Amino acid sequence: MEKIVILTGAGISAESGLSTFRDEGGLWAQHRIEDVATPEGFARDPDLVQDFYNARRVQAAQVQPNAAHQALARLQSEWPSEVVIVTQNVDSLHEAGGAENVIHMHGRLDGALCAACGHRWAAPPEMAVGEPCPACAEPTARPDVVWFGEMPYHMEEIYSHLSSASVFAAIGTSGQVYPAAAFVHEAQAAGAHTIEINLEPTMGTSGFDDRLVGKATETVPQWVNRLLQQKD
Ligand code: OAD
Repeated sequence: MEKIVILTGAGISAESGLSTFRDEGGLWAQHRIEDVATPEGFARDPDLVQDFYNARRVQAAQVQPNAAHQALARLQSEWPSEVVIVTQNVDSLHEAGGAENVIHMHGRLDGALCAACGHRWAAPPEMAVGEPCPACAEPTARPDVVWFGEMPYHMEEIYSHLSSASVFAAIGTSGQVYPAAAFVHEAQAAGAHTIEINLEPTMGTSGFDDRLVGKATETVPQWVNRLLQQKD
């Protein structure tokens, strides 16, 4: 049976109350990427960067998964073959909605990482600058998120899934950040049927075989219902 690979972005969590990056009033309209989402920004002003992620961590802990997250979890449990969810999101709403084995290619807000030894542990709600690593005691704790200029996580595993996908869906992502923006081409090269599900067509829309335009809480359950009906 057909393997489905799904890429999600900030748009799937928007209706839960988390800001996207590039929509009007989004995070990148309020903060400079160079300041809060690069290793250089962290070296320059670690307090600013920790404050940015502390605020996002607090906010993410207060919101609930929505019908789109829940529909994907249902697809995972009812589809007869593998359903792989790859997310660019650092929130944990897929898991809270019931999804399993979600691949977080840009890391997670609830994780901490030691910049010195690579040790990982659960982030406290508020991370402080200079916090010692529990493994090596260096004062080099940082959020376990991927910044611009850093390599996204789990790439080998993701490419392996894309090369064996029969269906590829990109949900709630503007397709402006690589390598995720090129996953559709990898999947197409493997012969997958590709669909974009987004509030509005993106710059990459023409690269997809199919599209569903509208709010994720409406379009994603519709798409999942359609797939599950086809299966029967
Ligand atoms: P963006 O903010 O770039 O794009 C969000 C997309 O979701 C836009 O195309 C919106 O039209 C769409 N959208 C908004 N509300 C929606 C809704 N209710 N239903 C469906 N779609 C909706 O966010 P991403 O594409 O996720 O990386 O951004 C990718 C990466 O850029 C992020 O992971 C982050 C950011 O910089 C890093 O920080 C490394």
